[in-house]
Amino acid sequence: MSALLEVDSLSVVFGGSPAVDDVSFRLRTGESVALVGGSGAGKSTVARAIAGLVSATSGRIVFDDVDLTTASTRAGRTLRRGMHLVFQDPYASLPPGMRVGDIVAEPMVIHRIGDRTARRDSVLDALASVRLTPAADFVDRYQHELSGGQRQRVAFARALVTRPRLLLADEPTSGLDASLRVEIVDLMSDLARTQDLAVLHITHDLALAARSCDAVMVMQDGVVVETGSSTEVLTNPSHRYTAALVAAATGAQ
Ligand SMILES: Nc1ncnc2c1ncn2[C@@H]1O[C@H](COP(=O)(O)OP(=O)(O)O)[C@@H](O)[C@H]1O
Ligand SMILES: [Mg+2]
Repeated sequence: MSALLEVDSLSVVFGGSPAVDDVSFRLRTGESVALVGGSGAGKSTVARAIAGLVSATSGRIVFDDVDLTTASTRAGRTLRRGMHLVFQDPYASLPPGMRVGDIVAEPMVIHRIGDRTARRDSVLDALASVRLTPAADFVDRYQHELSGGQRQRVAFARALVTRPRLLLADEPTSGLDASLRVEIVDLMSDLARTQDLAVLHITHDLALAARSCDAVMVMQDGVVVETGSSTEVLTNPSHRYTAALVAAATGAQ
């Protein structure tokens, strides 16, 4: 089966300095891959380039067999409806003062998908899939009535409601307590398997990445320095930087 997403020699240069330098990888449906690295490594820029929020300086981003770097703006926008970005901070990324049902329904409203009844059904499905149950109890709540973990689940429900095929999760757990982080990454790997989703999970936490993802890519200074299965990377890191991350991750547990 061909990959859902193929990133091929992607480079993004900001004002003369490369933030992302010749990055290549593939992502298949049902697969979740972690992009791990320290602050400033270029992780968010990779996700933003895929989502079309920054332009690729060179390279190709092929989604569903279409090269997004050469597709028209209109075609690119339509194709990118098949992907959704979840950000770090659910407090900042969810619209304030709205009820959960409306927050989750909003992407459907924006993309004019379904009528009221269809939207309500999709909202209930999405809430159930992130295990905010009974879903009907959450629909009328306000986000300030929710815990941090519940808010991030709402953010995922909102991401899933339009049935995207690719989820780009940029440090979705860094605002959460350690126990909730594990819950959220486990949820993401479940979603990849059960919802026919490909997941790119961006994190600085190698232990967390290895727990939930099939494969890990380690990024440093714009470059992917190591790629491998989660077990391989954790037990037998080949790059010095990865070894340092492994030592930090295992030392911290
Ligand atoms: N819009 C931008 N304009 C200029 N420089 C940027 C922009 N976005 C990111 N950068 C720079 O690109 C590099 C990579 O940033 P980023 O992708 O945010 O890293 P990470 O997510 O791994 O912390 C950093 O040096 C950052 O300062
Ligand atoms: Mg970032």
